[in-house]
Amino acid sequence: MSFKHAFPCVFLLFACLKLQAQQPVKKIGNITKVNITGQQIKITAENAFAEISIYSPSVVRVRIDKQPLNKDFSYAVVASPIPTKFNTQQTQKDLTITTDSLQLQISKSPFAIRFLTPDGKVINEDEEGLTTSWVNDAVTTYKKMQDDERFIGLGEKVGNLDRKNEGYTNWNSDKFGYPTNTDPIYATIPFYIGIHHQLNYGIFFDNTWQSDFNFGASNNRFSSFGARSGEMNYYFIYHKNLPDIISSYTSLTGRMPLPPKWSLGYQQNRYSYYPDTEVLRIAQTLREKKIPSDGITLDIHYMDAYKLFTWNKDRFPNPKQLSSDLNKLGYKLTVIVDPGIKVEEGYAAYESGKQSDIFIKYNDGRYYTGQVWPGWCHFPDFTSEKGRQWWKTQVKGYIETGVNGIWNDMNEIATWGQKMPDNVVFDFEGHPVSHLQAHNIYALQMVKASYEGARENLKKRPFLLTRAAYSGTQRYSAIWTGDNRAEEDHMLLGVRLLNSLGISGMPFAGMDIGGFTGNATVSLYTRWMQIGAFIPYFRNHTGVNTKSAEPWAFGEEALEITRNYINLRYKLFPYLYSAIAEASRTGVPVMRTLALNNTFDPKVYDTRYQNQYQFGSAFLIAPFESTKEFGEVYFPDGTWYNLYNDNITTGNQEKILPLSIKTLPVFVKGGSIIPLQSLTQSTNEKPGDTLFLHLYKGNQPSSFQYYEDDGESFDYEKGSYYQRTITYNPATGKLQLDKVSGNYNSNFKIICLMLHGFPLGSGITVNNQKIPLQQKTYSFLSAISRFDPQGAFIAPEHCEIQQATFENGNQLINVDL
Ligand code: NOJ
Repeated sequence: MSFKHAFPCVFLLFACLKLQAQQPVKKIGNITKVNITGQQIKITAENAFAEISIYSPSVVRVRIDKQPLNKDFSYAVVASPIPTKFNTQQTQKDLTITTDSLQLQISKSPFAIRFLTPDGKVINEDEEGLTTSWVNDAVTTYKKMQDDERFIGLGEKVGNLDRKNEGYTNWNSDKFGYPTNTDPIYATIPFYIGIHHQLNYGIFFDNTWQSDFNFGASNNRFSSFGARSGEMNYYFIYHKNLPDIISSYTSLTGRMPLPPKWSLGYQQNRYSYYPDTEVLRIAQTLREKKIPSDGITLDIHYMDAYKLFTWNKDRFPNPKQLSSDLNKLGYKLTVIVDPGIKVEEGYAAYESGKQSDIFIKYNDGRYYTGQVWPGWCHFPDFTSEKGRQWWKTQVKGYIETGVNGIWNDMNEIATWGQKMPDNVVFDFEGHPVSHLQAHNIYALQMVKASYEGARENLKKRPFLLTRAAYSGTQRYSAIWTGDNRAEEDHMLLGVRLLNSLGISGMPFAGMDIGGFTGNATVSLYTRWMQIGAFIPYFRNHTGVNTKSAEPWAFGEEALEITRNYINLRYKLFPYLYSAIAEASRTGVPVMRTLALNNTFDPKVYDTRYQNQYQFGSAFLIAPFESTKEFGEVYFPDGTWYNLYNDNITTGNQEKILPLSIKTLPVFVKGGSIIPLQSLTQSTNEKPGDTLFLHLYKGNQPSSFQYYEDDGESFDYEKGSYYQRTITYNPATGKLQLDKVSGNYNSNFKIICLMLHGFPLGSGITVNNQKIPLQQKTYSFLSAISRFDPQGAFIAPEHCEIQQATFENGNQLINVDL
């Protein structure tokens, strides 16, 4: 081609490029090439490259970038695609992929994605005209807002259960005493669930940069998710039932290993208990006052001048002795760790960290220095194998001292000023990135190192707690919701945060019971402790300048009520531990927003009822401010028994109930099977040999997965557990305890079956043998004495039950009721 001919073409090309460069928003454009290999579809579009992978019949991954896709890498995802059958159909216009569970339609001009059910109902689709685009490096995918669409999840996010009309940012942030509308706070879980037209789906956006979600905030057109940079990289999950979506999400990002049983007991904490004699006084007082408990936690004052991996010699001259004394009293010790290592010549951790060169650096190679409790600090690079190994050797020291729990704090990273520079570089497993990309996963990698260090040295299950997180943190640690306030609305916000964490893959979660900043009123403290008995991680914690917040610090009545509920928690252990095991097996949380099982019932999203939740499959908890005299409760589908007196309310009903600080409104679903044990003062104590199996008459078949193991070792991974399905069929009047799987022997030799709501009978048949029934009164709480306004003894409310006793074992047990 001569210059004369080439010139106009070159001119046109430059003109086009210029136009393109001027576009403030860069679109994907039309598809130019499609290549299908195995379960992967590689797509080239005018302005982007994409890869669609079929992970399973219900899970599809979408990756899109402006440049050819980088090597695949994720800190969150631990699953690979499973072999999946699917069909493809291609026309000029589009490409359709059909699995057994869903259809994926990809339009070619322009490139747009739509997910449908096998029978053609739209589950989720790119918003026409917007789809995926870039503003500079920031990438966003826009989804059409479906009629009446709701959104739940996103982990530790403030606001309503239904996140419609709200926008959220993920950037792990230290937010001391956060007001109830603060976003972001500490954790990043970029996973949400959309609900509309009797359909629900999950989207997990795996991008560690600062990410933003919009569920119709300041717009009436779309929901969207995007990040400041990096790939558009999301997993689309479709199932008919919401619990299955959570199972798929947690099969991608991993599930919680079984925590040690003691960590599910009541834990006492404050910022800070010291010296050692004070720690022992607290432990002894808990025992003297008969408050069942298992854990004591040391906050930063155990250290020498807040220097990590040291002990203050005056306050804690012999930490080994302390942990042994605590063990003798039935307690396990947890200590706090922060990532900041004080810059101080001669300080062992600083010297060895420098020598091993494990601290994060500025891009000029000098260590980054930020200020936190001990003063100026360097910070280990947990995104490098070398950094994690170094940390693990430090953690070993704690385990050798008798510590069983590691509480990972300030790991957002929190530094005074809260403005860590962008130009700090992290190893990112040998592919260095800036702070902007590593920030949100720093805590995840810190708890990985802490968990592995503790597990390797303890040789039993350690307890791990973290403040910051990214998706996948559940593989290592429990989480708590940071520095809340001793205020009524914070208590209720906490309930929603934990419910949201539960459906976002983090079942082992808690909040500072009683509030971290400020001082709770007597009634607020009492109500909070009652709720605490029904949340997975049950720890009382308060800030440095607040009043004492142990159960005896609020007067006799608060003590008695609080003890009553902690007692109930301890009796519930067989039920709770089975629910925790279920969460570990399936990802389905223990604390269940009503949206989990009543997803399409609009009432559960009503802000009057949004704080209600189920604790496992049986209990409905209705938390209210402690100041309220009446409360509106929504009873979802089913039959509901009042826990305290067995009065029945049928479901699909709203009711106004009188409230009293003496009891928390708790209801039991008809059909529930609830195993209880005798009261113990800690999980260390043997609970006697009888398992009390409560059965509530219902109208629908129901079942319960009963689970036991030694509560401390990893032997369950090798089959040392005791698990059986218990089913109840009201139509046939049969209760069946299946043959046991696993090779652990139950602690319980006897089963005492306790029937609620059944017509009076003389006996039952157990494996063809007649067993007599006895009529009894039963109370879940003991009497709250002396506090009747008239000074009279208040008998506890009670249920009229019938009970029968028979032998437990590993065999199939058939009960005819
Ligand atoms: C901040 C944590 O959120 C809080 O729980 C702790 O007590 C303080 N750091 C002191 O370590």
